[in-house]
Amino acid sequence: MKYQSVKGMEDLLPQNAWIWQAMERMARGIFEAWGFREIRTPILEDTAVFSRSIGETTDIVTKEMYTFSDRKGRSLTLRPEGTAPVVRAFIEHSLDKALSESGGKFYYIGPMFRAESPQKGRLRQFYQIGAEIIGSRDCQADIELIMQLDRMLKAFGLKDFSIKLNSLGCKKDKDNFAARLRDYFKDKKNCLCKDCNERIEKNVLRVLDCKNESCAIIAKDAPDVIESLCKECLNDFVTVKNGIQGIGIKVDEARKLVRGLDYYTGTIFEVTHPGLGSQDAIGAGGRYDNLVKEMGGPDVGAVGYAIGIERAIIALGNKMDVFTPNIVFFATLGNDAKARGLELAERIRKKFNTPYLIKVVALTGGIGGASLKSQMRNADKNNADIVVIIGDDELKAGKAVIRDMKTKEQVSVEMDDIVEKVGHKLC
Ligand code: HAM
Repeated sequence: MKYQSVKGMEDLLPQNAWIWQAMERMARGIFEAWGFREIRTPILEDTAVFSRSIGETTDIVTKEMYTFSDRKGRSLTLRPEGTAPVVRAFIEHSLDKALSESGGKFYYIGPMFRAESPQKGRLRQFYQIGAEIIGSRDCQADIELIMQLDRMLKAFGLKDFSIKLNSLGCKKDKDNFAARLRDYFKDKKNCLCKDCNERIEKNVLRVLDCKNESCAIIAKDAPDVIESLCKECLNDFVTVKNGIQGIGIKVDEARKLVRGLDYYTGTIFEVTHPGLGSQDAIGAGGRYDNLVKEMGGPDVGAVGYAIGIERAIIALGNKMDVFTPNIVFFATLGNDAKARGLELAERIRKKFNTPYLIKVVALTGGIGGASLKSQMRNADKNNADIVVIIGDDELKAGKAVIRDMKTKEQVSVEMDDIVEKVGHKLC
């Protein structure tokens, strides 16, 4: 029997790990510098956390959730997204008590699960980098988040992405808009696909989003959301758009943009990239001013976004300009030399690295009495920049040999000067 990973769920292999780590490290750095703090919620939640927030009639809840009963018959679901769990945790731990007037700022990085049919950029287990500001209705928070999203994608090295912006308005506006859409679509049912026929009653906004050609043609002349916005929501939309453009970030108004999750009201946005094919959204988000209250919490506004890591990596062509550490390999012969090698390797790690930035990786060979030849092969396999060779003779003379693996030059140096000399070579 040959085992394979579950369909749509991929292994991250060591040779690809660096790009993920670089992206996650960059994201953490940006979040922390913006005053966002990490929140880690469990991967499993009560199913109701998602069905109530994302919406009973959405594709995610009706078709895509991994839901099962545990041993006590409770219905649990693997999280399909991060917002609802963060809101659940926010309420459960009364995080509103510690809120400043600009709201609580949270971020998360982790796997999400949706049983969609896998294709390029669409997986069943995928990773999101997400941010949420909970506790503020001020649309300046929307501007701050879109600015942060733009900063983050540029820091990853992405250039050709576009930010699409729309507003669904407050709950009342959204209901009015849905009623106008229903009215518009009701006598055009014959031209709409089977799914859209169902959507007219259950989730009419999603008809605007249908990829089916005939639905798209009908949707083109559908009522414009802007006409359903109240004065306040229209004002917020214009403020957000002008605010973002005012700081030099390009955004495109996308009046037909709707989102696949029901909790949104007000500003919504999506970032697309031409390198992605049909699954072209690298990230998306928006305001969800009613969700915290609907889930049993205080009546506070909220806004957030999430980036799909796999899609961001595809858009980068699987390449990223990142800092790659130098590698120093200690080839040692004999137990005493090995002990000295272990000690010097640790001095190098301590001198050049911080917990946040690894500039030098120090490896030690000589395990099980391996010959110098096999240790040099090992150093090559590990792409070592420098090999420090310590044999018994060198040890007795208080010296070691430093070999530059690119130029093949070797020099003999005093043992006490090794750390410094290695540093000079790497600079
Ligand atoms: P979402 O649009 O469902 O929003 O997902 C956000 C991003 O996750 C997408 O733009 C995409 O890059 C990635 N993504 C979604 N599904 C998949 C998939 N099957 N395979 C690979 N990548 C995928 C949310 O999840 C909201 N919680 C975002 C948010 C945060 N809104 C407010 N706060």
